[in-house]
Amino acid sequence: MYNWNEIRNQINEFIDNLKFEREPYGLYEPIRYTISQGGKRVRPVLFLMAYNMYKENLDGAFYPALALETYHNHTLIHDDVMDNADLRRGMPTVRAKWNDTAAILSGDSMLLLAYEFLSHVPADKLPVMLATFTEMAKEICDGQQYDLGFETREDVTEAEYLNMIRLKTSVLLATSLRLGAYLAGASEEDQENLYAYGEKMGLAFQLQDDLLDVYADESLFGKKIGGDICCNKKTFLLITAMNLASPVQLAEMKEWMAKSEFDAAEKVACFTRIYDELGVRDICEKRIQALFEECDRYMANVSVSPERKTFLKEFADSLLNRNL
Ligand code: IPE
Ligand code: IPE
Ligand code: MG
Ligand code: MG
Ligand code: MG
Repeated sequence: MYNWNEIRNQINEFIDNLKFEREPYGLYEPIRYTISQGGKRVRPVLFLMAYNMYKENLDGAFYPALALETYHNHTLIHDDVMDNADLRRGMPTVRAKWNDTAAILSGDSMLLLAYEFLSHVPADKLPVMLATFTEMAKEICDGQQYDLGFETREDVTEAEYLNMIRLKTSVLLATSLRLGAYLAGASEEDQENLYAYGEKMGLAFQLQDDLLDVYADESLFGKKIGGDICCNKKTFLLITAMNLASPVQLAEMKEWMAKSEFDAAEKVACFTRIYDELGVRDICEKRIQALFEECDRYMANVSVSPERKTFLKEFADSLLNRNL
């Protein structure tokens, strides 16, 4: 059995050896650019760790793991168009380095490449892998649409927010675990518990992403600080702040949100000050911790020996303490 660092090294090596050599250059260069940036590779690591809970030899699992990472990168390239984001992984986004058209088309090709990679599994496993993956991808689109729709609403509830992030973020982490277990021959019950584990972990992961969007060190996080504030994203921080705000604070936030032209730094500074005044950061950190603790309940029901769960738990811990 491999620990998460060993698994990450293996998937990194596998991906580094891929060439993505194909014409036209203008379509494939943004794909090579994006894939070679790396990122944390959370989804393929989860897939391979779940697989490795049941099978020692990972040889047949790298292509579907790559499918999940390629799909994830497809969503990021399109997400950066939707969120007007110019910085990711410390580098210009595809839309910033090229343009929106490059982001749309190379993002589309990455979705198709993901399906191609996914098809490298034994024929008897393919129908379920395909159906599960496709349903997940549809849910992510649903989540992304809710996320965008919420930008122009001021009455988004915490429950609506949690459902939105379940769709846009959790289902990919959850499906990575489920499919890894499925491919390795795990029982339906284990797959369901691992899915539920990933779902809670994904909520915590997105809450953390929202928190880092305001409080991270930009040079480590690799994304522009305050990006969510500028887009009026209804993050956990903003929803909590709007619920707790005094009438004066609420009026201040609403005034900024109504402006179509503004000084980004001033807007970010104002929201950050209000978040600090209301102790929103601490509330968010506690919620992240609680969600991570909830995960364990599902892991306890997975029918492998405790030793086979330790590496996945360690990986979850490393995500809880991340700063990028
Ligand atoms: C970013 O995902 C999108 C979210 C779901 C928050 P990651 O934080 O896993 O991005 P990379 O792949 O490591 O850059
Ligand atoms: C991530 O949401 C969800 C997907 C990409 C599907 P964000 O918009 O918060 O992700 P980042 O912060 O740009 O990575
Ligand atoms: Mg987004
Ligand atoms: Mg984004
Ligand atoms: Mg974000």
